Amino acid sequence: MSIIEKALNKSVAQRLPVSKLTGGTLDAEADEDFEPAYERHPSFNDTLPLVKLDFAKMESQGLLPSEDHAMRLREEYRRIKWPLLDVALNRTSHELENSNLIMVTSSIPGEGKTFCTINLALSMARQKQCTVLLVDADTAKPKISRLLGLDEKPGLSELLEDPGTVLTDVMHRTSVDRLFIVPAGVATQDSPELMAGGRMRALVRELAQLPRGHIVIFDTAPLLANNEAQVMSRLVGQVAFVIRADTTPRVAVREAISLVNKKAALGVILNQTTTGFGAKYYGDYYSYGRD
Ligand SMILES: Nc1ncnc2c1ncn2[C@@H]1O[C@H](COP(=O)(O)OP(=O)(O)OP(=O)(O)O)[C@@H](O)[C@H]1O
Ligand SMILES: [Mg+2]
Repeated sequence: MSIIEKALNKSVAQRLPVSKLTGGTLDAEADEDFEPAYERHPSFNDTLPLVKLDFAKMESQGLLPSEDHAMRLREEYRRIKWPLLDVALNRTSHELENSNLIMVTSSIPGEGKTFCTINLALSMARQKQCTVLLVDADTAKPKISRLLGLDEKPGLSELLEDPGTVLTDVMHRTSVDRLFIVPAGVATQDSPELMAGGRMRALVRELAQLPRGHIVIFDTAPLLANNEAQVMSRLVGQVAFVIRADTTPRVAVREAISLVNKKAALGVILNQTTTGFGAKYYGDYYSYGRD
């Protein structure tokens, strides 16, 4: 049985604590210190333009829960982030290239990729030892960039297109400590080709060489929509694959997973959105590896 089906079956049959499924660290003090301090890379500094995160707007757009449910979401995202951080910080036995680069994807549209990306990024940024760079790599539907009013600003597209543009030209700091953003930029018809190009590979090398504790999270397109996410899975160390519980057809999940680079660590976020905020879990995370 594949990891995906195991995860789906487990999620239906019995709701085990995620730690039992993953063997990962489930730490009640998850937002507390876990390692000695690290050096932040000088590019992540106060001279970058500031973008204010408007939590009320994010809530009204369904990307954050109401305050009543914020604590629960926070708890659930602690459990989701830990297996990813374990790998990214080399705290597990997984020896992976580019393990600090995490893409969030899914098989089909609307499964909650953007929701998961934002909440994971916020949760990781709560760690004092992390610096998080959220990259809006869904150039066709740049929801995060729009939400933050950055959809007209240069971003990933320009970085990949224009040899004169460097990472710090398109980076923004945010009103949340330790959280930085690269918007999608203005999409061109060449976006899928650019993702597969040499400048993207150079960018990935640059991001992978950031000091330990720097985590890069990419919000991407669905795997079955075009080949952008598939290409990106060859560049990142970790793929967080979102499945909308009780909704996504298994055949779509199987097909999409078959497109993911076999070398990347693969995990599943089972996103329980069917009854909206309040009634169900926001998400669970299931183990790494393939079989
Ligand atoms: N865990 C969740 N709880 C409540 N609502 C959610 C959850 N996840 C996603 N949603 C809602 O589902 C909708 C789709 O979510 P989102 O935009 O994150 O999906 P997506 O996979 O990024 O879609 P696309 O493929 O179009 O980019 C949004 O309206 C969001 O509010
Ligand atoms: Mg999205």
